[in-house]
Amino acid sequence: MDIIQNRTCDIIIFGGLGDLALRKLIPALYYLHQDGHLCKNTRVIPVSRDMITTAEYNEIILEKFAPGFEDKSYNRDTFNAFMKRVEYVGIDLTKESDYEALAKVLKGHEEKERINYLSTAPSLFGTICANIDKFNLILPSSRVVLEKPIGNDLKSSQVINNEVAEHFKESAIFRIDHYLGKDTVQNILALRFSNMLFAPIWNAQYIDHIQITIAESVGLEGRWAYYNNYGAMRDMVQNHLLQLLCLVAMEPPSTLDGDSVRDEKLKVIKSLRSIEGDDLKLKTVRGQYSSGVSGTQAVPGYCEEDGGQSNSNTETFVAIRVDIDNWRWNGVPMYLRTGKRMVERYSEIVIDFKDVPHSIFPKGGICIDSNKLVIRLQPDESISLFIMNKVPGLNEGMRLQQVELDLNVAEGAPRSPSAYEHLLLDVIRNNSTLFMRRDEVEAAWVWADKILDGWQSMGITTKAYKAGTAGPASSIALIERDGRSWYEK
Ligand code: BG6
Repeated sequence: MDIIQNRTCDIIIFGGLGDLALRKLIPALYYLHQDGHLCKNTRVIPVSRDMITTAEYNEIILEKFAPGFEDKSYNRDTFNAFMKRVEYVGIDLTKESDYEALAKVLKGHEEKERINYLSTAPSLFGTICANIDKFNLILPSSRVVLEKPIGNDLKSSQVINNEVAEHFKESAIFRIDHYLGKDTVQNILALRFSNMLFAPIWNAQYIDHIQITIAESVGLEGRWAYYNNYGAMRDMVQNHLLQLLCLVAMEPPSTLDGDSVRDEKLKVIKSLRSIEGDDLKLKTVRGQYSSGVSGTQAVPGYCEEDGGQSNSNTETFVAIRVDIDNWRWNGVPMYLRTGKRMVERYSEIVIDFKDVPHSIFPKGGICIDSNKLVIRLQPDESISLFIMNKVPGLNEGMRLQQVELDLNVAEGAPRSPSAYEHLLLDVIRNNSTLFMRRDEVEAAWVWADKILDGWQSMGITTKAYKAGTAGPASSIALIERDGRSWYEK
């Protein structure tokens, strides 16, 4: 176990009864405990408005964990030991005097490193930071973790970032994009920068185009109020999709440390060609799902979801052709696509290589498909290389077929840790490589705002697509207009 690198911490989760804390953070901390990554005296301190006791909080998490004891995802004894680390504090986060209760719990633990995880509405980030500062709860070793969304445009993100910066220096601010915590996402770095094989061909000379898809089968899962103010562009493209694009497109960083990697990602974001005017109609598609079928179940349309309003024009699907204006990617389109209520849940990056310049094989019936490198992030993790091969046997002439070389990344691996386990452990270790720096977030907003403003000013509305399908027909047209098609396995 690598306990030596880890530090004894007080991990304070603001919003400790929220959906994210209960569904992702607490289970991630449980697994870190189970796998021996939490030091002996590390505590977990959920903070929330409900005035309940630690025992009552533990009852709530027990209820969530209980089904997992049956199917052996969790171990009951380990869970009991984990609960001993938990110390719940009930406070109204907007009420300054309430922070006294938190101060009491933290008193006498000043030798530990303090992690403040803000899993609340971003409008509270400034208030929480100011209040913990007033009570002198920020130590030199303190860090703050910010959940996305950080604002809903450049201006609002600057306000939030300024508020937090009054109390924490940039190196102590960890902005989470949970996609960067996924194992296969990090594998992009390994694939690109530890294999000489791909390095010489990772450019416009050999790559025809790149596709990145994050498809979800779920709808809003009760998040209408949040989602309707954001939509897929702000919820997924400005962060998750751009981050994936950065890892695929960036220049090799000189080291793996936080700033080297983030400097290179920033250069990619700054090289994105802005999409304005008539290009918005040609290079972007907004969609919104109508009622349909998900799996075998009939599901309502976006506007009929719980809390929905019939006149909403918020997009639940986006497809965009992105161009990166630099030497490496000159003329190589990047197609990004994401949507809710699509056919199935999968996230995938497809690197589509150029055709061979001249075919020596007899014409007629032989089609040489381009080589593809397909990196699947979820639900299963895999990397496949599609190459052309001779059909075995005594066939007339030379018959070819495309075959898949399966790199089987996950085979034989131990339990795959969740993105939050990975990222929380990085915060504990004070490693910021996989977190977003302020300039990155803001540069991403500059690019996204142009599109969002353009949609608004040009009256570009959403196109309907049936729930359970691959999105609006215009997204197929978007890529076919360039003589290409979406990769579907
Ligand atoms: C979140 C978005 O950041 O990512 C959600 O707010 C989305 O709308 C989720 O469902 C997708 O994450 P994952 O890891 O399930 O692909």
